[in-house]
Amino acid sequence: MSLKQQVDPEKLPRHIAIIMDGNGRWAKKKGKLRIFGHENGVKAVREATEASAELGINYVTLYAFSSENWRRPKREVDTLIDLLIKTVHSELKTLMDNSIRLNTIGDTRQLGEKCYNALNLAKDETKENKRMVLTLALNYSGRWDIEQAMRNVAYDAREGSLDPETIDQDVIKQYLTTAEMPDPELLIRTSGEHRLSNYLLWQLAYSELYFCPTFWPDFRKEHLYQALINYQSRERRFGQISEQIKK
Ligand code: IPE
Ligand code: IPE
Ligand code: MG
Repeated sequence: MSLKQQVDPEKLPRHIAIIMDGNGRWAKKKGKLRIFGHENGVKAVREATEASAELGINYVTLYAFSSENWRRPKREVDTLIDLLIKTVHSELKTLMDNSIRLNTIGDTRQLGEKCYNALNLAKDETKENKRMVLTLALNYSGRWDIEQAMRNVAYDAREGSLDPETIDQDVIKQYLTTAEMPDPELLIRTSGEHRLSNYLLWQLAYSELYFCPTFWPDFRKEHLYQALINYQSRERRFGQISEQIKK
């Protein structure tokens, strides 16, 4: 039985979040510049996206550029943004062919006008696509998300459209950049690092975490199937005990 056939279609997560990590080390291992790793990461993005759409996953959210990644050498940051613009253009047809809607979370304005416009154009073109939502987290961090949510909660409370008495977790969710999506049931991080690096902090509260040693440019559909098979073997208890779940 192939790996794909081992994935139970009845027990799929609705939302998969991925920390695409290891591009630089992948390139270094080959004696190349870091950007070579980023360029080769594009194929992995295509594989993960396609495999998810084919299986019927509704949301995939990829960590592509964190708020902290500005701290990298300017040359790497600039080339990463250029690569993003190029990729958004080149992948638009694939998004349309597969009926995938492009979405972003994070402060994309700061990525520069050219990038901001390219992203908005692709988001607009794909806005009627219904099969899956592909979200790129760009200039994003989990604490930034909570910070902007709190600011807007405060504005609305001051203006009178939000009664502080009514603020609960559902209300807070509506102010996060992921308001329209369910929380990810599964988080995958490649490259063998075991940390969240300030990704979806609120949203990952009860996600299953899956770490794989593969560097991102080597990530293929089979790696996603493997992650899903592992996810499906776990018992999600949400504070209850095993006997309650099995009832
Ligand atoms: C992930 O790979 C891509 C981005 C963060 C943009 P890295 O660039 O972090 O690669 P490593 O972790 O240094 O190998
Ligand atoms: C996290 O990876 C951010 C992205 C994948 C975009 P990093 O490689 O930047 O994370 P740290 O710095 O090792 O924690
Ligand atoms: Mg890294």
